[in-house]
Amino acid sequence: MAKDVIIACDFNSEETTLAFLDLFKERKPFVKIGMELFYAAGPEIVRQIKQRGHKIFLDLKLHDIPNTVRKTMKVLSSLNIDMTNVHAAGTIEMMKAALEGLVREDGSRPLLIAVTQLTSTSEQRMREELLIDASIQDTVAKYSHNAQLAGLDGVVCSPLEAAFVKEACGKSFMTVTPGIRFANGTKDDQVRITTPAKARKIGSDYIVVGRPITAAQNPVAAYEYCIKEFLG
Ligand code: C5P
Repeated sequence: MAKDVIIACDFNSEETTLAFLDLFKERKPFVKIGMELFYAAGPEIVRQIKQRGHKIFLDLKLHDIPNTVRKTMKVLSSLNIDMTNVHAAGTIEMMKAALEGLVREDGSRPLLIAVTQLTSTSEQRMREELLIDASIQDTVAKYSHNAQLAGLDGVVCSPLEAAFVKEACGKSFMTVTPGIRFANGTKDDQVRITTPAKARKIGSDYIVVGRPITAAQNPVAAYEYCIKEFLG
């Protein structure tokens, strides 16, 4: 299975994003476009980044009724993206609808993964605010299993959970893991984190790295460091 580092382009304008991507001369990184950039710059930013030769993970975390998700996925798939996602909490029926919507006329489709529990969520918050009494591990395992039943390609999870997701769902079930921090860096608002090297050992297929690269003094060097640690 392909392994790669995905840069989370959490910027709020087209100019900032394209200026950031201009820094990368040799290798065109796989980029993640999230809600902030998509809502600020619209679908045109997806077309532009795609045209520059980047692969795109469109991270809009859909969570709505199945019919709305199906129709929305049809629109997103037409942008020629490589990967997108939904919240597993939207149910198996919603995930199946998402998958149906993504299939293009030629039969191809972007990869579809499900968000299990956000890496910023702690077990205490799950219990106190969401009234979920199960452990994070059990919740992630259950949501991953649901995603697999719906036919999805994998899940977004904390790198610390990638190993048991693989155990529960099999090696070919993809794990995409944010919550990556360098050994000497800050945690920001992330809770369940690890380094690129550890994520590699645990078996993540893709790591998603935002601020450790985008806020670095030298983003290209930070990216290359991630590639070296993660891909070896
Ligand atoms: O800056 P940082 O490396 O924390 O960015 C992580 C990215 O991954 C953000 O764009 C965030 O929205 C996303 N993400 C996450 N946890 C999830 C799913 C997505 O942090 N469970």
